[in-house]
Amino acid sequence: MQIKVTKGAAESATLAVDLVAGALRAKPDLNFGLATGATMVGVYLELVHRHQIGELSFAKTKAYLLDDYVGLDADDPRAFASVVEEKFCDLVDIRSESVVAPNSQATDLEAEANKYETLVCEAQIDFQLLGIGRNGHIGFNEPGTAFDSKTRLACLSLQTRQDNAGFFSSVDKVPKRAITQGIGTILRAKKIVLIANGAHKATAIRDAVCGFPSEASPASALQNHSDVTVIADREAASMLNSC
Ligand code: F6R
Repeated sequence: MQIKVTKGAAESATLAVDLVAGALRAKPDLNFGLATGATMVGVYLELVHRHQIGELSFAKTKAYLLDDYVGLDADDPRAFASVVEEKFCDLVDIRSESVVAPNSQATDLEAEANKYETLVCEAQIDFQLLGIGRNGHIGFNEPGTAFDSKTRLACLSLQTRQDNAGFFSSVDKVPKRAITQGIGTILRAKKIVLIANGAHKATAIRDAVCGFPSEASPASALQNHSDVTVIADREAASMLNSC
């Protein structure tokens, strides 16, 4: 694992996008794994900016979403597919048919999850962006998830629902389920870049980076991957000194 400590969220986004830019230069037809959440907002802003100044093109890129809530209307602006469309895909030159997401409206959600697993594995993600939950989740793989888990219908923990309540009118309105790539699915990506900002992520980052890999910390599974960069601002990295 490579650890890069930044001064704050803006520098974290710049660094993450520098890595995306390098990957795109090497492979313009990048299979790009996208995450959502507050951390990614700055990353998408920076990706769009670099596109607008002519530095980055996604014309040959295919994008795959990491996860999406179950239980929201398809056009709900809080659905991750809508967020990615609005904050990234609509603002760059990626072709709309090149953006792939699990269909969380499917009548048979288990079958849809299996289908998405096959699709993602066949594609082979070149570069996966990841955030991390306060409890160490990656995707919506909550503590206790097996490291070899596949894409599936998962339940969100109360902590995660509370942390996402700001996007909804109350915690009760936060969906209880999501389709998420499994930890095993995520680990198949060739390169993974995890970004964390803020003191509320410090414990999760400490456990992910220097804890003994354990299902109690889903992100600690990343220690088993050969090409992971963790970009953490000073606050998120503040407990790494004691490792
Ligand atoms: C989102 C996702 C989640 C978030 C995590 C951090 O697609 O899979 O794992 O990355 O919950 O969210 P923020 O950035 O809102 O703290």
